[in-house]
Amino acid sequence: MAEQAIKTDSVLASEMLDLEAVRGDFPILQRQIHGQPLVYLDSAASAQKPRAVIDAMRDAYANHYANVHRGLHVLSEEATDGYELARKKVADFIGASAPDEVVLTAGATMGLNMIAQAYGGAVLKEGDEILVSVAEHHANLVPWQMVAQKTGAVVKAVPMREDGALDMAKATEMVSKRTRIIAMAHVSNVLGTLYDIKALADLAHAHGAVLVVDGCQGVVHESVDVKALGCDFYVFTGHKLYGPSGIGVVWGRGALLAEMPPFLGGGGMIDRVSITDSTYANPPERFEAGTPPIAESIGLGAAIDYVQSLGMEAISAHEQDLLAYAHERLGAVAGVRLIGTAAEKSGVVSFVMDCAHPHDIATIVDRAGVAIRAGHHCAQPLHEFLGLNATARTSIGIYNQRADFDCLAEALEKVKVIFK
Ligand code: ALA
Repeated sequence: MAEQAIKTDSVLASEMLDLEAVRGDFPILQRQIHGQPLVYLDSAASAQKPRAVIDAMRDAYANHYANVHRGLHVLSEEATDGYELARKKVADFIGASAPDEVVLTAGATMGLNMIAQAYGGAVLKEGDEILVSVAEHHANLVPWQMVAQKTGAVVKAVPMREDGALDMAKATEMVSKRTRIIAMAHVSNVLGTLYDIKALADLAHAHGAVLVVDGCQGVVHESVDVKALGCDFYVFTGHKLYGPSGIGVVWGRGALLAEMPPFLGGGGMIDRVSITDSTYANPPERFEAGTPPIAESIGLGAAIDYVQSLGMEAISAHEQDLLAYAHERLGAVAGVRLIGTAAEKSGVVSFVMDCAHPHDIATIVDRAGVAIRAGHHCAQPLHEFLGLNATARTSIGIYNQRADFDCLAEALEKVKVIFK
């Protein structure tokens, strides 16, 4: 760390990513905010888009657009090819056994609701248990509460340890033969904690349960191989992976998807329809009712091509370096307390200051061009568990540099002056 700390961004870039080139790929980084160059530290909320994604979507609309899977004309065939190619790119990116294991959805929230209602609704009985962590994003908690209310199942939350790591000993103690589903994040969107997915999968399977992973904050920082992770469902969204909003992914084990009833009914998901009943298409079509996100899928495919062209290993190495630097730099600001310092972390650094509310911090650093998020980050139970109303959160994207955290640290000094 000491040796790393004296390296400059450009030296680091040559070892990892060509950071200057990467930054040049993101038009928005040319923006000035309040007369200052933009420092974007809010990629966990939504990442910025490289030119390759913007161009791919523009090309899809300008040259190849029609509805998919429906037309016999050239444009529909081209749009269908683009849509199905995106599914294949996702499958290859996450190590799925086949593209048919990849369901394209409107987003991760839609995907998690789908699994909760369709899979959970089919398997859960009164007294069954769903194990989550106390740090889950509401999208991986509220859908489980809703299906629990319908079925008589119970949601239980595993606590985090003092440093923000998941309390695996407690998880092991809490799991039982009543546990049918474990639903946890790959990476906490507040603490940055990297969960041990393999260990959780083994724990779930030893008790006859399945593991659902909310991978929104994981797939953007870590190389994901769903088979190696051993999970049963892996869900993520396009817009945090430098792709568009309005598209998400549900990967499910082929055998589980085959047994899963549909979530939404409509066009495209059926086999045969009569007035009184219907039979359904095989996965993934069974779970893709209605006109899907067409240009968005093509944008997601372009985003995957883009991150793969940089290499997930290089991305992780770059971001781990920044994470260490952010801890060091922000941790050195007197009055700043870091929230979440687990040994295994990825991409997120949250903090509080004794002199100012996180909303005030975010507003003041914005004046210096620095975009961070403040609030409960859709994780109210975690904040209650931590005894905090809110936190300030920085999150790292591939375009960030050490200088971004220098700017933030300087802006935090201004916060102290204002709120002294
Ligand atoms: N889930 C997103 C976040 O953590 C919006 O900011």
